[in-house]
Amino acid sequence: SRAVSIVGTGSYVPEKVLTNAELEKMVDTTDEWIVSRTGIKERRIAAEGEFTSHMATKAAQRAMEQAGVTAEEIQLIVVATVTPDTFFPSTACHVQRQLGAKNAACFDISAACSGFLYGIEVAQQFISNHTYETILVIGADRLSSIVNWNDRNTCVLFGDGAGAAILRYRAESHGVINTFMGSDGNYGDILHMPGGGCAVPITAENVDQRLNTLHMNGRETFKQAVISMMAAANTALDRAGLKVEDLTCVIPHQANLRIIEALADRMDLPLERFHMNLDKYGNTSAAAVAIALDEANRLGRFKVGDYILMVVFGGGLTYASSVVQW
Ligand code: ACO
Repeated sequence: SRAVSIVGTGSYVPEKVLTNAELEKMVDTTDEWIVSRTGIKERRIAAEGEFTSHMATKAAQRAMEQAGVTAEEIQLIVVATVTPDTFFPSTACHVQRQLGAKNAACFDISAACSGFLYGIEVAQQFISNHTYETILVIGADRLSSIVNWNDRNTCVLFGDGAGAAILRYRAESHGVINTFMGSDGNYGDILHMPGGGCAVPITAENVDQRLNTLHMNGRETFKQAVISMMAAANTALDRAGLKVEDLTCVIPHQANLRIIEALADRMDLPLERFHMNLDKYGNTSAAAVAIALDEANRLGRFKVGDYILMVVFGGGLTYASSVVQW
């Protein structure tokens, strides 16, 4: 039997590094506080004029190269992002133009940090239904453009980047086994951007009040992150008929080292089994798990036949988990 598989991964982060030491000069914080509370040491910041679609396109090109897929072969482009270049056209359409992927249908997914795994599920469904054969899924965010750089509670946490995957049927039986997606709109206000939509339009006054920036209740988000990622991981594993011990590698959302430690503890898996890069990139939102997947793949952290688990949570509240036999 054939399986829907991730046949190529790619990622891109901007060149500019913003260290904790530099943040000390911008807000009332210390390297010690940031490292001990989050594990983050530095993050990447997009250059002026470097938009979400530009980062997404670079990540996509690397995934296409690894997969041996040309732009014309791509039939669907799904971009998960909360920082689109423009509300419309979608960022996926911007990426289509830059890639020259003229045969693709394109749309964006709004599921905050969970968006990449939502995209994996969308791709899996479309390929399983024989609607499309070759799909490009991208997680990309330029959170630096919606962060309030005067708010030490949030500005130390985030960075910019993009990650991509190409999905296709593969002759072998291994691939994406199961993806679970969940949401809870009751927790919408623990992590959100109030302004910019029709509810709180972009007016000078609203912008002055920083309503067009990210707002977060850190403690509540931390709590819900652990609960929702545990639930997502357990559901996806159950449906796949697997146990945690079967996993060679877990690729979690890269929000906070302490959240990942809590997850490792509750899953009863050693922390070494988790792939982490948040020390270098911070939380890159929809890109985080996609960049980590590409990095782990290229580092050879798992080989063909190994089971891996991706698990995420984000604004919405949204959460998801995907079990893959590589
Ligand atoms: N530097 C110094 N002090 C700070 C900083 C900072 N950068 N930020 C906050 N503080 C202060 C706070 O003001 C608070 O001071 P107070 O007690 O006088 O009010 C103190 O540090 C402690 O705050 P806590 O909330 O207890 O800190 P906590 O241990 O919870 O860590 C953190 C805060 C890191 C934000 C944590 O709650 C967290 O990681 N939450 C999850 C955040 C997250 O994952 N967000 C992304 C979600 S994914 C997405 O969709 C984008």
